[in-house]
Amino acid sequence: MTTQPGPVGQHRRNHDDADQWRAPAFVSEWVEKDDGTPQARIQTMREALAATPYAKDEPLAALDVGAGYGMFASEVLRAFPKAVVTLQDVSEPMFELARERFADQVAQMRFVRSDLSKPGWTSEIGGPFDLAVSSIAIHNLYDESLIARVYAEVYGLLKPGGTFINIDHIQRVGGAEGQTRFLRDAGFADVECITISERLARLSARKAS
Ligand SMILES: C[S@@+](CC[C@H](N)C(=O)[O-])C[C@H]1O[C@@H](n2cnc3c(N)ncnc32)[C@H](O)[C@@H]1O
Repeated sequence: MTTQPGPVGQHRRNHDDADQWRAPAFVSEWVEKDDGTPQARIQTMREALAATPYAKDEPLAALDVGAGYGMFASEVLRAFPKAVVTLQDVSEPMFELARERFADQVAQMRFVRSDLSKPGWTSEIGGPFDLAVSSIAIHNLYDESLIARVYAEVYGLLKPGGTFINIDHIQRVGGAEGQTRFLRDAGFADVECITISERLARLSARKAS
């Protein structure tokens, strides 16, 4: 069955959302709205990256899950200028924007298109990674068992001692209690959830060395 992408305000709350993010008009509308509001998210990204154990000049292998147009990937490169970041997303229109907006950083970006809701989304990702980040992407799955599975897959992509940061809307997908449980069940240690605002939380976790 073919599904028509709806306007941004009408997210379908299931993993078919991936269809919407492939549509250039939906992506332009989302990015236009987002361009007015990203400051809290960027500030949270910077604080989360500053709390990682890595030195600025480490040549980190990093992964941005549901990277969109690359805001978090760009912040990783700002914090760790020798890193290489793999941007994973289902949306080619988002990747086109990433290549335009962060043209000065694109040499340190790799792009992998895959759908988090499908088993095998990691097959082209590479790794293992020192650092995995994600921002307001994973909640789009709107399915707690899928989210728990994605956390386990991210865990599998990390090196021992690797860090995972997820800045996300968690209210409708387990809340703080559920999300921290999904991370612990995936094998992560040092799991933390910090509330940033009514909508946003910052989750962090570490794979044991
Ligand atoms: C709200 S945007 C956030 C983008 C970016 N992380 C940021 O903070 O600006 C959500 C992103 O998740 C991606 N996404 C949604 N469902 C996905 C899926 N099933 N697999 C992979 N990416 C998905 C979308 O394509 C979109 O780029």
